[in-house]
Amino acid sequence: MAKNKVEETRESEWNLITPGEISQVDGIVLEKNLCNIWDKIWDFQAKPDDLLIASYPKAGTTWTQEIVDLIQNNGDIEKSRRAPIHLRQPFLEWVRTANSGIDQANAMPSPRTLKTHLPVQLLPPSFWEKNCKIIYVARNIKDNMVSYYYFQKMNKGLPDPGSWDEYFETFLSGKVVWGSWFDHVKGWWKKKESHPILYLFYEEMMKHPKHEIRKVMEFLGKNLKEEILEEIIYNTSFDVMKKNPMTNYVNDVKMNHSLSPFMRKGMIGDWKNQFTEAQNKQCNESYEKNMADTSLSFCMEL
Ligand code: A3P
Repeated sequence: MAKNKVEETRESEWNLITPGEISQVDGIVLEKNLCNIWDKIWDFQAKPDDLLIASYPKAGTTWTQEIVDLIQNNGDIEKSRRAPIHLRQPFLEWVRTANSGIDQANAMPSPRTLKTHLPVQLLPPSFWEKNCKIIYVARNIKDNMVSYYYFQKMNKGLPDPGSWDEYFETFLSGKVVWGSWFDHVKGWWKKKESHPILYLFYEEMMKHPKHEIRKVMEFLGKNLKEEILEEIIYNTSFDVMKKNPMTNYVNDVKMNHSLSPFMRKGMIGDWKNQFTEAQNKQCNESYEKNMADTSLSFCMEL
């Protein structure tokens, strides 16, 4: 019942704003609605016991969020199904007329878990001042790009991506919402030298889920039994999350799942079904150039 009320509110609010329009903050492309309230985002007051989940869009954010929520709730799936993921863990950049992610976070009791896609330099300074724990999840550029392309096709809140060939160029030039993939993954990687950031990789989570979930558990200061970890692995598997209405955004009015489902393929190496040979070469060249100044490396295929 509560859920329907939320969705109704969101739909009526949705009609009042300007979906898909973009602007910029410090050269980073962001939704126009967000740019319009930028001071409110920048002035957000984090608290020392806040946990932040940060990522480039489509890197496995929702997956990480659900893992965190289940760990915090000792693997209790009923508790984790109490509400859709965006209500359990407010999204800082969620802008609506009446109820933005910031308002949601401000109204929430501590300890709070929050989500952002902001590049490191645009994160509200209070997160650094309060020394909040942060989990960052990154995904290889090629799968990330393909996933983002299909997401922009199905999500009315983002600009239309155009054709795949057009999108490929836009993505590599960094002119997509939330900015350049290169700068994002490198910026957060560098920041972990001076701040408590657990840096995860989508590909490692796929290949070694127990190992990665244990890392998250330890980072959160929890100690769960082996069988609970097994249950968390099962309940955060792609197939289970795809059927879970609290994690698959099935009720989000701006997403058209018949164009492309939110839980699309959940694979490593799906880019091979999308990239031409020439695009692969171009992407590799751009990657070599842009990643020359970092120790970061990614698994592109199994
Ligand atoms: P694909 O589009 O490649 O399928 P985000 O939550 O950051 O928006 O990321 C969404 C991407 O993560 C989608 O990728 C989605 O299918 C994938 N994903 C979500 N949950 C997953 C899970 N439990 N296991 C593997 N991939 C998952």
